[in-house]
Amino acid sequence: MIAHNRPLIAEEDLAAAEAVLRSGWIAPGPQVSGLEEDFVRFFGGGGACACSSGTAALYLALRGLGLGPGARVAVPTYSCSALLNAVHFCGAQPVPVDVRLDDFTMDDAALAQLSRPVAAAIAVHAFGAPANIPALKGTAPLVIEDCCQSPGGRRQGQPLGAQGDAAVFSFYATKIITCGSGGLVWDRSGKAAAWARDFREFDCREEYTPRFNFHSTDFQAAMVRSQFARLEAIMARRQSIVRRYLEALPRGIGLQAGLDDAGRMPHRFVLVLASREHRDALLSYFAAGGVKAVIPLEPYELLHRYLHLDASAFPNAERLVDTTLSLPLYPALSDQEIEQVAELLAKADAP
Ligand SMILES: Cc1ncc(COP(=O)(O)O)c(C=O)c1O
Repeated sequence: MIAHNRPLIAEEDLAAAEAVLRSGWIAPGPQVSGLEEDFVRFFGGGGACACSSGTAALYLALRGLGLGPGARVAVPTYSCSALLNAVHFCGAQPVPVDVRLDDFTMDDAALAQLSRPVAAAIAVHAFGAPANIPALKGTAPLVIEDCCQSPGGRRQGQPLGAQGDAAVFSFYATKIITCGSGGLVWDRSGKAAAWARDFREFDCREEYTPRFNFHSTDFQAAMVRSQFARLEAIMARRQSIVRRYLEALPRGIGLQAGLDDAGRMPHRFVLVLASREHRDALLSYFAAGGVKAVIPLEPYELLHRYLHLDASAFPNAERLVDTTLSLPLYPALSDQEIEQVAELLAKADAP
């Protein structure tokens, strides 16, 4: 069975981690600072704080921007429960918003129609599809760009993360670059990142205020830096797999919008089918052909369902959980595996 996801840990990534392990300094140190500097260089300024996960990065970004108890924070309902966790741990109130049917990102029209204002929005670049940050900024005073699935992606020539008030990244095992678990927050003014670094440095402080150990380690940072340096090559490989699948795609099977856009960092290749029955039939069809396809988000994972809100207010997300299917898309796929997926896709039944 071709796995739905497999990390690509290159020889140079192993060498980078091994050098740190052999150095005797495995705690946070020069590699963690180096990773932060890499991101600052990438964005051409600002500040960065590396941390233990994307969830920690979300929490630090929210707190670093001054959001806390009483703040209403919009979240796209078709996304990861990590968003709810981060908002709740700040004492703030998550406000789920429906997503667009075409690219699965937060619907700016639905955000604008909320009956009460929000203090901020977390805009997820869903499976690599860029959320429309300028449009969301028209309603949300602060926007955090969630780039956990899209580091290196671009929108209108700008790197994703550059247009909001802060950007967060995840280095979890299934993400574009990974060290198993890790995260980072970046912001243009550097204020949120400075707050986050202070919050993370709990040890040997002269004055006590509650802080928290959100550290990552130097060998993790070394692995991430090694992959970050290859981001363009990773993007090119992912885009070439997308092109092969697009050639094979039968008429009548839809896709998440923008998969072949020039600046896209494709995280997932998501089919959009006409019905749940068709999606479930294709799931079995791919499994029988030796390819592990997955349902990207199950209905019970929708954030509005976790919060027991009326599902009829989120029709697009409710439709997407019934009609989407994700195929293996990652640089560790061999050419032969890519062909196997593509040939199976070419023969898939369209309605
Ligand atoms: C969009 C999004 N935001 C945040 C997270 C949280 O990242 P992590 O798993 O590193 O805590 C994830 C992944 O799980 C994610 O997909």
